[in-house]
Amino acid sequence: MTAIATNPQVGDQVTEAQRKKYADLIYKKTGIRIPSQKKSLMSNRIRRRLRATGIDGFETYFNTIRKLDSNDDEWVAFVQEITTHETYLFRDELQWDWFRNTFLHDMATAARRGEREPELRIWSAACSTGDECYTIAACIAAVLPNFSQWKIEILGTDIGIGALEKAEHATFGERAMRLVPDSYSRRFFKKHDGSEPTWTAKEILREMTTFRRHNLMEPLRVVPFDLVFVKNVLIYFDSPSKKTVLEHVRKLVRPGGLLLAGAAEGVSDLLGDLERVEAWLFKTP
Ligand SMILES: C[S@@+](CC[C@H](N)C(=O)[O-])C[C@H]1O[C@@H](n2cnc3c(N)ncnc32)[C@H](O)[C@@H]1O
Repeated sequence: MTAIATNPQVGDQVTEAQRKKYADLIYKKTGIRIPSQKKSLMSNRIRRRLRATGIDGFETYFNTIRKLDSNDDEWVAFVQEITTHETYLFRDELQWDWFRNTFLHDMATAARRGEREPELRIWSAACSTGDECYTIAACIAAVLPNFSQWKIEILGTDIGIGALEKAEHATFGERAMRLVPDSYSRRFFKKHDGSEPTWTAKEILREMTTFRRHNLMEPLRVVPFDLVFVKNVLIYFDSPSKKTVLEHVRKLVRPGGLLLAGAAEGVSDLLGDLERVEAWLFKTP
């Protein structure tokens, strides 16, 4: 009997050959490298799609998805399952201190002096469930003077469709909200009491944000941004994929604009002409 199980049960795993095939396919289409140690995690996540689709084995499922277009519903659902969406508001507090006290302060000063229009375009690339976008919006609402007279556009993109649906829904549990200052949660979120309370972002934040599905391995054709967040996503890519992603992202940071990466993202060698401002912050010439 081969190790290929039909109707895989809890605990059944892909064979090594299947793991490699799945990993290669995921890499080719998303740039994400799934290391061999994650075989059991990969198996669990694929098993969820087998249950959802009724397809009766790892091999049959592979043969189904390998032919699918990137926009096919099942491919999109598979990618949503296979990717890691861990995120929360005010993740990496030091960066949010910089965002409020330096970035927004500088933007406000430049606008007051007439050195720039009161406009701000910010992109959260790989925004997952939108926590980063609503943190950006809440900081703007809290500290940017006369922000209602500014044209603010915060774009959140992600490859995961389920994550984006949650982002549109803008409702967060206690875990996601744990670092949000009380004054912010009171002002900018509506609390729903219950055994597991949730908070929904108010309109004032939601009207600044839009979400769309986008694969970072492909170019995004939009007007460049003042600031781009690329956090906790490049860690899933190898060097060639990282390079591709950063080339696309780099084109969307306007001259004199900024790219903010996760502290462990290892991007500094790949950023060419960008000036390093902090270990996690880079400025275009
Ligand atoms: C761990 S979350 C990070 C969320 C947020 N940036 C943060 O730092 O809290 C990583 C996100 O990257 C997304 N992702 C992975 N590969 C992607 C790709 N090729 N294109 C766009 N998004 C991708 C996943 O769907 C996931 O939601």
